[in-house]
Amino acid sequence: MARRTKISLVGAGQIGGTMALLAAQKQLGDVVLIDVSEGVPQGKALDLLHGGPIIPTSSALSGSNDYADLKDSDVVIVTAGLPRKPGMSRDDLLDVNFGIIKTVGEAIKKNAPNAFVLVVTNPLDAMVYAMQKVTGFPTHRVVGMAGVLDSGRFAALVAEAIGVSAEDVQALVMGGHGDTMVPLIRYCSVGGIPVTHFLSQDKLDAISKRTANAGGEVVALLKTGSAFYSPALSAIHMAEAYLKDKKRVITAAAMLNGEFGYKGVYAGVPVILGGNGLEKVIEVELDAGEKKAFDASMEAVKSLVAYIDKKLAE
Ligand code: APR
Repeated sequence: MARRTKISLVGAGQIGGTMALLAAQKQLGDVVLIDVSEGVPQGKALDLLHGGPIIPTSSALSGSNDYADLKDSDVVIVTAGLPRKPGMSRDDLLDVNFGIIKTVGEAIKKNAPNAFVLVVTNPLDAMVYAMQKVTGFPTHRVVGMAGVLDSGRFAALVAEAIGVSAEDVQALVMGGHGDTMVPLIRYCSVGGIPVTHFLSQDKLDAISKRTANAGGEVVALLKTGSAFYSPALSAIHMAEAYLKDKKRVITAAAMLNGEFGYKGVYAGVPVILGGNGLEKVIEVELDAGEKKAFDASMEAVKSLVAYIDKKLAE
């Protein structure tokens, strides 16, 4: 008999709970929510289970406080950690979330050695790097979720400014998942037409700026946490590409191996995501201005990575 696909969500908070709903709706497989908070993963799983006949879905849903329940996961999506509060940058989360990623990474290595691991916890580029180092998994099986979200935010704002469907906007936002991210206007199109046909440079610059601060804008409004619907949608989009071997062309935080002039660090770059995980980094051509912005973003990422290396060596 065929084995059922298993998706484990470590962190059953705002993003984890939303991902469980989306995974069940899409019938991607059985879903296990795992969290240190007693009752929360069980309660969310039970709540969703009650909605199963209404969705409808045949995904089994369960909650646990035990990492042993990661066993035999096909995909593990990690949101365990603290979210931002108003006034905090993603980097402010570095210390505490590194400790959490280390614990979770060791548990994944022990219980789900063949899983495809998606990291969502911030600061993203540093946390996905830490996850790869702690698990020792091949880099095509440890990927960070940020580019889908950053590109989605840029595309959504472009669609709104033009007054067209968000479905028709293609965008590419590269670099680190922070204030220095690089929206590439040259690679943005609307129904195949360059975005510059629709919007002035000033307007596009303003949208780029708003994209880089989009997460902060949501934090300032929510006050109690950070964005969760769009991050959850983005991570499930990636999990689906892997589970269905879709070969999607998306932006993800990938370990670079010489591409764009960097080696041994994670950064948001266009990739092909399919059944083998991260199948290829697409090394698009960057002009001088774009490369300069990408390099500036990588400086920010490199300082976070240096900190993680120091912590890993302790
Ligand atoms: N193991 C499992 N779960 C943990 C652990 C751990 N060691 N430590 C914390 N958690 C859980 C918390 O109990 C909480 O339920 O992680 C969950 C995080 O959920 P939220 O606080 O609701 O945060 P969320 O909005 O889901 O964001 C999670 O993703 O986008 C990033 O910046 C965001 O780092 C944050 C993460």
